[in-house]
Amino acid sequence: MAIERTLSIIKPDAVAKNIIGEVLTKFEKNGLRVVAAKMLHLSRKQAEGFYEVHIGKSFYQPLVDFMISGPVLVQVLEGENAVIMNRNIMGATDPKKADPGTIRADFADSIEANVVHGSDSIDNAKQEIAFFFKPEEIYSR
Ligand code: CMP
Repeated sequence: MAIERTLSIIKPDAVAKNIIGEVLTKFEKNGLRVVAAKMLHLSRKQAEGFYEVHIGKSFYQPLVDFMISGPVLVQVLEGENAVIMNRNIMGATDPKKADPGTIRADFADSIEANVVHGSDSIDNAKQEIAFFFKPEEIYSR
């Protein structure tokens, strides 16, 4: 088992619903540890840059608008197989398809307002972590 790091974002819908703690509890109860965290209100430029892989898709502009509609909590999660573990804890992108007990099944309203983002590969996790955090902002044991 490999100890990995992954990027997680608690999105504006979850911050507005005051469920940051409940979402973090899901990560912690499943063996992931928060090793960095900051609350940010993303600029349009930041959100467009973060999601540039989706440029051209029909949901790109609504996604950017949604991600700047309020503050987010950005975290680095660490643990065994953290990238896939986080994806499993979040559940499917569309909450209607998410397994019971996952974050999106329990808390998400729609595919747009789906509570959390998580890196989808180890390479993307490295890039996404570097997008938001300097190395010295991440707790190392
Ligand atoms: P996220 O993991 O943040 O990555 C891209 C986001 O785009 C995704 O979660 C969804 O919130 C949003 N999105 C909206 N519509 C779609 C769609 N049809 N397919 C994938 N992602 C979508």
